[in-house]
Amino acid sequence: MPGSPIRKLASLAEDRKKAGIHVYHLNIGQPDLPTAPEVFEVIRAFSEKTIAYAPSNGIPLSLTAWKHYLEHFGIHFDETELIITTGGSEAIIFAMCAVCDTDDEIIVFEPTYANYNGFAGVANVKVCAVPTFIENGFHLPSEKEIESYITNRTRAILFCNPSNPTGTIYSRDELQRLVNLSQKYGLFLLSDDAYREFAYDAEIISLEDFPEIHDRIILLDSCSKRFNVCGVRIGLLASHSKDVIASVLKFSQARLSVATIEQLAMVPLLENPKAYTQPLVEEFRKRRDVVCEELKSIPGVTFYKPEGAFYITIGLPVNDSEHFSKWLIEEYEDDRETVLLAPAQGFYATKGKGMNEVRLAFMLKIDDLKRSLAILKKALEVYQHNFLK
Ligand SMILES: Cc1ncc(COP(=O)(O)O)c(C=O)c1O
Repeated sequence: MPGSPIRKLASLAEDRKKAGIHVYHLNIGQPDLPTAPEVFEVIRAFSEKTIAYAPSNGIPLSLTAWKHYLEHFGIHFDETELIITTGGSEAIIFAMCAVCDTDDEIIVFEPTYANYNGFAGVANVKVCAVPTFIENGFHLPSEKEIESYITNRTRAILFCNPSNPTGTIYSRDELQRLVNLSQKYGLFLLSDDAYREFAYDAEIISLEDFPEIHDRIILLDSCSKRFNVCGVRIGLLASHSKDVIASVLKFSQARLSVATIEQLAMVPLLENPKAYTQPLVEEFRKRRDVVCEELKSIPGVTFYKPEGAFYITIGLPVNDSEHFSKWLIEEYEDDRETVLLAPAQGFYATKGKGMNEVRLAFMLKIDDLKRSLAILKKALEVYQHNFLK
């Protein structure tokens, strides 16, 4: 079971804070904006005498709210095709468990969401990583190239659109490649839509636009980021396949239910999502633009402007970004401040890849983002002088 690469350096940051150094967190995707008051109102208004188990597939009111939420995006599922999960994380694990036997394979595109490796460990599934590259904005390779990773044990292709950790949004043509392979090899397409709303320069195409693979699509979703509610732990799995839903329901029954009050607390947001997500998305668009502007002024940094999400994977002028990130958080300071980064090696399933890359999450206010990138610029100069000259 791999450890979380994102949390790896976090204890060093805590030590540094105890020593009085201010740490800017560019390492983790925890939005810094307040949760909507409606969420707290539902929690306070809960008046049942007992907090009982919810039905394993979800509370009916909450299932209907999810159905309405998806309809805002032209995506149609009825309640019997939905299962509410403990975060998007559980939806991904259940999907893996439902479509794979032990040691079956799932294709992902690296750099990939690091926890896919951990989820595959839970599900006893092998992740096969198809490489993508910073030079073309981490877009997908040709159908032929992807096909070369398919074996007789491949059961599914899992992708996140827009992508964490790259912010890439896949075009219709790219999705068509996956749809073609799904049809040719009978593969499931697991679409992780945790960042659905966070699209700045490109339209997000839903797999629902490809009716030819209707019951091969498994949609995986999460309230965490779009509603600023990472701690409520509410996600969703949706599928038109009765077999998939029947299988996922067994896993859901084994874990009994998802938190009752939190399911209810998401209803007002799911019923009227854009009112909550639009201001958030506009804020993150501004932050994305600031990050890209500031990065341009740092010599030797390579990057691609992310089209969505709130992450960017950048190349640094260093040989080992993990060594640099550790040094930055353990030893470096500028005016008693430093920065915590997420080295990108952990986002690659292939050893030795992403050695000079880091992922930045733009979770800070614009002034703090500017300051943290100014620290990064100064730190790179010192590091290059000390370690690379
Ligand atoms: C791509 C991706 N999928 C799924 C998740 C899991 O989200 P949740 O908090 O709903 O478990 C995350 C969280 O960071 C994510 O980045």
